[in-house]
This record gives sequence, structure tokens and C-alpha cells, in this order.
Amino acid sequence: MKVFAGNSNRLLAEAICNYLNLPLGKATVRRFADQEIFVEIGENVRGEDVFIVQSTSFPTNDHLMELLIMIDAVRRSSARRITAVLPYFGYARQDRKPGPRTPISAKLVANLITEAGADRVLTLDLHAGQIQGFFDIPTDNLYAIPILARDVKENYNLKNVMVVSPDVGGVVRARALAKRLDCLLAIVDKRRDRPGESEVMNVIGEVNGKDCLLIDDIVDSGGTLCNAAEALLKNGATSVTAYITHGVLSGGAVARVTSSMLKELVITDSIQPTTAVQSAHNVRVISTAALLGEAISRTSQEESVSSLFD
Ligand code: R5P
Repeated sequence: MKVFAGNSNRLLAEAICNYLNLPLGKATVRRFADQEIFVEIGENVRGEDVFIVQSTSFPTNDHLMELLIMIDAVRRSSARRITAVLPYFGYARQDRKPGPRTPISAKLVANLITEAGADRVLTLDLHAGQIQGFFDIPTDNLYAIPILARDVKENYNLKNVMVVSPDVGGVVRARALAKRLDCLLAIVDKRRDRPGESEVMNVIGEVNGKDCLLIDDIVDSGGTLCNAAEALLKNGATSVTAYITHGVLSGGAVARVTSSMLKELVITDSIQPTTAVQSAHNVRVISTAALLGEAISRTSQEESVSSLFD
């Protein structure tokens, strides 16, 4: 087995290799003067089971292209099997046509990865589980919930905790965490009654006096999260903490989070934390290296991966 990494998340790739007790494979990913990407695999991969770790996070298109070119390089070097490991699968939010004459970019990206030569995909908390079906190759979608739940148990008195979905679309995920923690569930329902009117946040559930835990798959601008936190505090919540798998945190999102009423935002390292994230007083990063490392090891040994969800 050999593990290689593009430039998107080398820290996580190194931590995964540490878990697996393997050196990170030698590969150079460089740019020509016109920004074309050039990849060179620095060791023999003939007949090997190769895993390429690359999140398609910001700059999304560059990181996606790096992944495709790395897959091509490894395929042309006669690897036995290639698994694209995407701790964060960018473009996942474009998983359906939101209107006429629009693309389904998540499907296009799945086609690109497959056509480049990947034999399998390993990913984490896909925005929509159905995206697995966009790939015609085996795709394992891992869940961060066991890691998040463990962190909640270590840091919170569960008796006073209420799990909250920040929107109606996230209820299934929130219910899974509430069930695992044996806690109550509330939902923030965002509604705009008429076009042009401002959104009204209705909280479904009694959050008064509760320590609320917002759960979501992505925090991007931070809008969904900070608005939900504000609505919960207005409804009498004692504190609001957020557990979110993928810290996309674009533009001024970190500033928005640090100046919000959020007690803490806990994200994973599926996207490499920027220096702004690392120095934010209320953002904490927990690692997915052991989960991904174990899944890689089991894939290589042809063992069950689904038992990691327990
Ligand atoms: C939406 O369906 C996702 O689950 C997240 O709630 C969304 O991507 C968060 O985006 P933002 O932080 O920009 O509100």
C-alpha cells in the first residue's frame, strides 16, 4: 500500500501516514509559469494499492485538477488499484438542477475522477449520501458523527444538552447525533413568507435553559450557523456550540464566527485549517486522521469499513 498527497491537505495526509506507520509517498506537484500543473511520482508504484489524499477545497478547481493529474500519473505508472481519498468533496452542493438549464456539477466531478482512472473513492460526510451513486465505482462515505459524539461526551454535561439542526435539510444528521447522545432534538426553521421580506427564524423545540449543539456538514460563509445561534439565544438557550464536519470558512467567515455569540465552533481537519482558523479564539479542530487511516487500512486488507460507523 502507498499513500500520496496533493497540496490541499498535506498535514492530514501526514497524520494518516503516521497512523498507518507508513512514509508519505514521494510526489512533486508543481506549476509551470502559466499555472499548468505538473506531477511527478518519485517512487515505483507498479502493482501497488495506491491511495491519493486530496480535498477539493479552496482553491477548489486547482485542487481538483491536481487530483485528476495525480490519478493519471499513478495509473500510467501501472498501480494495481487507485483510491481517491477526498476528506472533503467540493462541488457536492451542486447535486441537482436548481433550475432549468443548470448543471449537476457533483456528477460531472464524479465522472472526471472516474475517467481519470480512480478505481475507488473514499470520502467523509458527503453533503448528500446519494452522491455515492454518481460514481460507478465503489464509494465509501465515512461519517464524522462518531468522532464528534466522542468530543461532545468529553466536553459536555449531556443532561442539559439539546442537539439542533440549523435548517430543515439537516434534520437526519442532527437526529443521528441526538440518538447517539440520547439527547433531545430541536430544529431551526428558516422561512421567507414572501419574496423581498426578511427571513424569519422559527425554533421548533423548547431550547430555553439548554446548552445547544448545532450540527451541520458544512460551514461556508457562516451565515446559516450564526443566524441559527442568534435565534437559539433569543429563545433562551444558555449556550450555543457548533459541531460541523467541513470548515470551508470562505471570505470573512472566520471573523463572523469569532464576533458571534457562539461559544465554540468545532470542525474537523477534512479541510486544512488556515492560520486565521488556527488563531480564532472560539474555533477548535479535531482530527479525522485515525478514522481515514483505519478506513484506508481496511480497504487495503479487504476488510469491512462499515463497522467504523458504530
Ligand atoms: C447546506 O445545505 C449546508 O448543509 C450548510 O448549511 C451550508 O452549506 C452552510 O453554508 P453557509 O455557512 O454559507 O451558510
